[in-house]
Amino acid sequence: MAKKLRIDKMLSNLGYGTRTEIKRYLKNGMVELNDIKIKDASFQVDPEQDEVKFDGQKVNYREFIYLMMNKPDGYISATSDKYDPTVLDILDKEYLAFEPFPVGRLDKDTEGLLVLTNDGKLAHRVLSPKKHVKKIYYAEVRGNVTEMDVYAFAKGVKLDDDYECQPGELKILETIENGIDEDVLSKIELTIYEGKFHQVKRMFESVDKEVVYLKRISMGKLELDENLELGEYRELTDDEVKMIEER
Ligand code: URA
Repeated sequence: MAKKLRIDKMLSNLGYGTRTEIKRYLKNGMVELNDIKIKDASFQVDPEQDEVKFDGQKVNYREFIYLMMNKPDGYISATSDKYDPTVLDILDKEYLAFEPFPVGRLDKDTEGLLVLTNDGKLAHRVLSPKKHVKKIYYAEVRGNVTEMDVYAFAKGVKLDDDYECQPGELKILETIENGIDEDVLSKIELTIYEGKFHQVKRMFESVDKEVVYLKRISMGKLELDENLELGEYRELTDDEVKMIEER
């Protein structure tokens, strides 16, 4: 059974205003509980059973939110930062009211799929090294990525701190002569099952190559929605939430 909570708390959790503002809205007759106007802010509601309307519109209560963002370059994957904007700066107030945080980190200059939620348990499971959640990245790499690199990644490369990576699947998509400055540019897709700091960039450094562009395209079975422009986001469906942990 769902927990009951005060109506002013429920509405403020959903971003309808501060507790003081909500009290005023209640006094002004803007809130209905099961089609009856109520004025008392301490009214207890059961979000699963009761129908609450604000200004005539049905209120959709949920404890957790799950968002998919196409993260743009230039934003830090954190809830606050001293110098740079964070991915939370992109979110509307109605979502910030849930106090979401990013599930894992993408580097400031990495683009693509970032999940944000306030569901700490899900985040914990997805980030647990034991779960081996699959992540697929698209990257553009300075240098000629070869079959030798595919082989090295499949065996597991050693990073600069001697960490031995688990096997990763490297797919060469395209090789462009003089693709960057005077150098060859390789377009690749890399699948990994772990998430060390700067992992993709450091895997390529271990084979003497430099990632010049990086984008995450999937996590588990959840793929980045191609309709989302950089800096856009949307809520995940229930099925999509499950897909994050699917193999
Ligand atoms: N690997 C990286 O190097 N950077 C990221 O942002 C994600 C994976």
